Amino acid sequence: MEKGSAILIGNWKMHKTVADSTHFIEALKKVPIKKTDVRIATPFTALYSAAKAAFGSKIAIGAQNVNEHITGPYTGEISALMVREAGATFSLVGHSERRHLYHESDAVVAKKVRLLLETNLQVVLCVGEKKEERERGETELVLAKQIHHALNHLEKALLKNVIIAYEPVWAIGSKTAACPKEVEEIHKMCKNTLLSQDVPILYGGSVTAANAGEFLKQPHIDGLLIGGASLEIEKFQEIIQIGEALS
Ligand code: PGA
Repeated sequence: MEKGSAILIGNWKMHKTVADSTHFIEALKKVPIKKTDVRIATPFTALYSAAKAAFGSKIAIGAQNVNEHITGPYTGEISALMVREAGATFSLVGHSERRHLYHESDAVVAKKVRLLLETNLQVVLCVGEKKEERERGETELVLAKQIHHALNHLEKALLKNVIIAYEPVWAIGSKTAACPKEVEEIHKMCKNTLLSQDVPILYGGSVTAANAGEFLKQPHIDGLLIGGASLEIEKFQEIIQIGEALS
């Protein structure tokens, strides 16, 4: 299948107040975006104001997580319906920080995926192996398990709204990105053997303007999930410019 325009998603994690987010989106709106699909996953508190600031532009706003239930007695939790109402058009699910710091299981991730899709929100399913799993040669096994649990139960029509982000845990926030050629092989394996239909796969983990181009040039890398480098407009803008030139 033809490679489409690059999908570039900023993951702000627990950074930026409402004021910071609005300021950033206003600046981002000035960046020429013609071919790339640019999105930001903001903290819950900034969703509404960021979506309002992005209104009328090509920038999509999304959440970083939702609860696995749609409503109910879950103190401190936020549902897919709530983030949609606040202006989100997508949500990350199963980010490694959720899986490992907050012990989210594959079963919980699968529930979130279905709920989001049934709420008409796009899903960015994050998957990736830990350092020790990679050292034991288990990368393929880990990805197969995470992808099968999250997506196998879905009807084909729902799968159209899924994007996968391959983020090796050891590469996240480590300043050591994975090797683009190795990532290309892993994406190719996922597309050829783990997925029944074409699902875009992004790479994430210490992406910067210095390495973004090498990743985006690979035929099976459909875009990037960017943490640290999405927090400063100058750095994020540079990555968008690289994506625009290669799309
Ligand atoms: P990083 O984070 O770019 O700061 O490594 C990526 C992510 O966790 O999504």
